[in-house]
Amino acid sequence: MLTSAAEPLLSVAGLQSGYGKIRVLHGIDFEVSPGEVVALLGPNGAGKTTMLRAVSGLLPVNAGQVRFGGRDITNASPREAARAGLVHVIEGHRVFTQISVTDNLLLAGYDLARRERAARVEEALSFFPEIAEKRHQFGGALSGGQQQMLTVAQGLVRRPRLLMLDEPSAGLSPVLVDRVISVIDQLRARGTAIVLVEQLLGKALAAADRVYALVQGHVVLQASTAEANLPQRLERAYFGHEVSALAQPAQP
Ligand SMILES: Nc1ncnc2c1ncn2[C@@H]1O[C@H](COP(=O)(O)OP(=O)(O)OP(=O)(O)O)[C@@H](O)[C@H]1O
Ligand SMILES: [Mg+2]
Repeated sequence: MLTSAAEPLLSVAGLQSGYGKIRVLHGIDFEVSPGEVVALLGPNGAGKTTMLRAVSGLLPVNAGQVRFGGRDITNASPREAARAGLVHVIEGHRVFTQISVTDNLLLAGYDLARRERAARVEEALSFFPEIAEKRHQFGGALSGGQQQMLTVAQGLVRRPRLLMLDEPSAGLSPVLVDRVISVIDQLRARGTAIVLVEQLLGKALAAADRVYALVQGHVVLQASTAEANLPQRLERAYFGHEVSALAQPAQP
């Protein structure tokens, strides 16, 4: 089925998922429009990583539906999701340290025709000049922060319609954090949609069009980043004071 203009790129409805008998997500509704940058925020253990895993097929969906690009991809494999254009750069993903930077990127495009694969690797490297300089060196020759950015570059080789980044700036120096944010801005300008899980609230709000806050497996707040008092509202939502106010407009 084709996507109609009105349909979101990603549409998650009533999503429940978890680990075996441990239910972590209790019915999540979540949408991303084409080209939109959405920040997924929330305290430690809220279920952010679990949600990305359930959406990208790394965890079973126990109830609810995941639609992407007009298709039902509920419980599709991560490979099928990636083929459809939904790419998840997992939290703390490691690169191969004993092969070259270029080979790490070529591996990410394992199923593409050779010429196309080479072009995609160049495209991904164009976002990261400091990695491109070291393309012939082993992955292990990159700094920790550069290795982390290489995992984002691996995601870009898939030329995603939606890129889901789980704490891409964790542990990075301020300079590299800004580099990651600038890559997000560039991708957005090219029409790539992004879901960003980020602990740095200010950076997340500056980069995103909309935010969702997740607390204990529930969406407790969703808002445009243009709305006033958002940091304060998020803080209150984290501590549970805004849950009952969800159905009402924000107080001035
Ligand atoms: N492999 C696992 N097995 C069992 N429970 C898990 C597993 N991974 C996470 N959990 C639990 O699921 C809940 C949500 O964890 P999750 O990692 O999704 O949170 P998060 O919002 O990504 O947190 P953080 O900000 O620390 O990354 C937590 O209670 C966590 O303990
Ligand atoms: Mg997490």
